[in-house]
Amino acid sequence: MATNITWHENLTHSERAEFRKQKGVTVWLTGLSASGKSTIACALEQTLLQRGLNSYRLDGDNIRFGLNKDLGFSEADRNENIRRISEVAKLFTDSCCVTLTSFISPYKNDRQIARELHEQSQLPFVEVYVDVPVEVAEKRDPKGLYKKAREGVIKEFTGISAPYEAPEKPEIHLKNYDGQTVEESAKAIADFLIEKKYI
Ligand code: ADX
Repeated sequence: MATNITWHENLTHSERAEFRKQKGVTVWLTGLSASGKSTIACALEQTLLQRGLNSYRLDGDNIRFGLNKDLGFSEADRNENIRRISEVAKLFTDSCCVTLTSFISPYKNDRQIARELHEQSQLPFVEVYVDVPVEVAEKRDPKGLYKKAREGVIKEFTGISAPYEAPEKPEIHLKNYDGQTVEESAKAIADFLIEKKYI
């Protein structure tokens, strides 16, 4: 625990937004492994960059190669994973970036903490539920992880042997199956951001 530290005042977010000509917003994608979170986030990031906006994607698997490489998949480690990402996303968004996060983030309470962290700093937070039934995710199984989870090789696998608590009131609910395309999902998010004047 750090002691003897003092908060150093900075530009306000709105002052920075005026200089940058862009507001920040955190778009928090949550859903099962293989639900399509990262694919949708990638497509959305490209759309936003093409429009000249600064956008950056924080990805569950990728972040676990670096910042969070000391964390596994126990409940406590997932709590810490999401706590750190909430703080990082808040910093990116404070810097006026359109910040896209794609983490399973299976616990409601962790997502609520992420939301409150943003709200305390008057930074917008948009929760996007990338909804697919577990049977669909398991059928896709692009990384072969569901198979390993069923065989018991991977323990505490979300949807199989670890919980996923679906959002009750996400800002955006994408049903990412039954023919919904990646482009349609990315567009639905972009349209929401435009409607709310976040971009
Ligand atoms: S979270 O639950 O802590 O939010 P995160 O999004 O960072 O998870 O990482 C999930 C990714 O790690 C999955 O997409 C998958 O590729 C991989 N993974 C490895 N083990 C597990 C596991 N036990 N449960 C879920 N995902 C796992």
